[in-house]
Amino acid sequence: MRATSNQGSKMESTGLEIRELPRHVAIIMDGNGRWAKKRFLPRTAGHQAGVSAVRNTIECCVEKGIGVLTLFAFSSENWRRPQKEVSVLMKLFFSTLEKETEKMLENGVRLRVIGDRNAFSEELQRRIAETERATWGNDKLNLLIAANYGGRWDILQAMRHIAADVEKGVLSASAVTAELLESYLSFADLPGPDLFIRTGGEQRISNFTLWQLAYTELYFTPTLWPDFDKHSFTEALKDFAGRQRRFGLTGEQIESRTERSVLAGS
Ligand code: IPE
Ligand code: IPE
Ligand code: MG
Repeated sequence: MRATSNQGSKMESTGLEIRELPRHVAIIMDGNGRWAKKRFLPRTAGHQAGVSAVRNTIECCVEKGIGVLTLFAFSSENWRRPQKEVSVLMKLFFSTLEKETEKMLENGVRLRVIGDRNAFSEELQRRIAETERATWGNDKLNLLIAANYGGRWDILQAMRHIAADVEKGVLSASAVTAELLESYLSFADLPGPDLFIRTGGEQRISNFTLWQLAYTELYFTPTLWPDFDKHSFTEALKDFAGRQRRFGLTGEQIESRTERSVLAGS
């Protein structure tokens, strides 16, 4: 079982203390289109406006010492959108990687793209690889951008690799356990998400990290992604800090464990 969250506590800039910080926050950045529509702007203006919310959220994670942030930028199903919107999203992805590399280096951010990148143009694939290489040595925040990502795709690619290893004879079918399957998934080297946030008011997973969300705390907010600021993020963190994660145990078992660890001074 994974450790639940960061040990120590963190002071917010407001002076308020958040006792339990998630180690990994995963966000569905939704509501860009509706944000634009409310302003009689094209949907793509909403995507453009969403970039500052991305920047704010990254900064917030760095300030608070949250180790992993996953942002859902483009799902495997988003290719079905009008071609013009898809093309603007690809261009925005490219230019944001280009513009933000300097800032990522300053902030100690290590970028990794998860998802099937083969569908992207060669130019975009090269840009992704370059940014990953440039930020590889950073260790403050692991930033995972889920692009052409789908939770089903992730499980499927893991199963294909496992099947190939069984076929080669390097793995036996009986060795396929939950832990083994997990080790073939994207970001298996990092802790799974402790806190899932979806902006934009919809209450669904939309094929995000399905396997890894099994015991993640879910938080839904009506705030549209371009309006999601540091205050909104802090609200989500406070909500998370008030939850009791039980992983199938009883509340009493969890409480007595907490008491024991307090007495042991850990
Ligand atoms: C999320 O915002 C961004 C992407 C899916 C790329 P939407 O574009 O889905 O915004 P709404 O849900 O239509 O408002
Ligand atoms: C999920 O949002 C994907 C991203 C935010 C990248 P969608 O807007 O595509 O999800 P649905 O279609 O409302 O479920
Ligand atoms: Mg949407």
